[in-house]
Amino acid sequence: MELRPVGIFQGMSDADLKKVARTMREIRHPKGAEVMARGAQGVGFMVILEGEAEVKTVDGRSRKLGPGDHFGEMALLDAEGRSASVMARTDLVAAAVTEWGFKPFLMEHPTIAYRLLETLSRRLREAEASHGTNAKRSGRS
Ligand code: CMP
Repeated sequence: MELRPVGIFQGMSDADLKKVARTMREIRHPKGAEVMARGAQGVGFMVILEGEAEVKTVDGRSRKLGPGDHFGEMALLDAEGRSASVMARTDLVAAAVTEWGFKPFLMEHPTIAYRLLETLSRRLREAEASHGTNAKRSGRS
């Protein structure tokens, strides 16, 4: 499995990418497959290698993800089940880490852990901004 220095792997050297690849496993989903179901228990963290996925969040919004984007970290971090559903928009190839391998994976690759925090921070801002808009719309403060 060959990892490219994009998205969560951006800026990593070939040697580091090879090291990361040894701790991940390639998985494939056909177009239209449900990759993650909201509420289900989480068993893996994934980084897209080829293709596109669509995240359907609890507020009914969807977000497109492509090569280098990751998903599936939340249920592994808080053990509260999948926060959103994820579908394969095209045939999808991803690199995956299992639930039990996730913490050691982050400890071994702090650059990846930092990227993950950047994404979570950005998502929290988006969620808070949209909460503000929804609250205004419904008259709540
Ligand atoms: P997890 O909750 O394990 O499974 C569903 C995944 O969808 C979740 O982890 C995130 O990786 C991803 N996800 C959830 N909410 C959003 C969002 N607002 N934008 C992009 N991805 C999201």
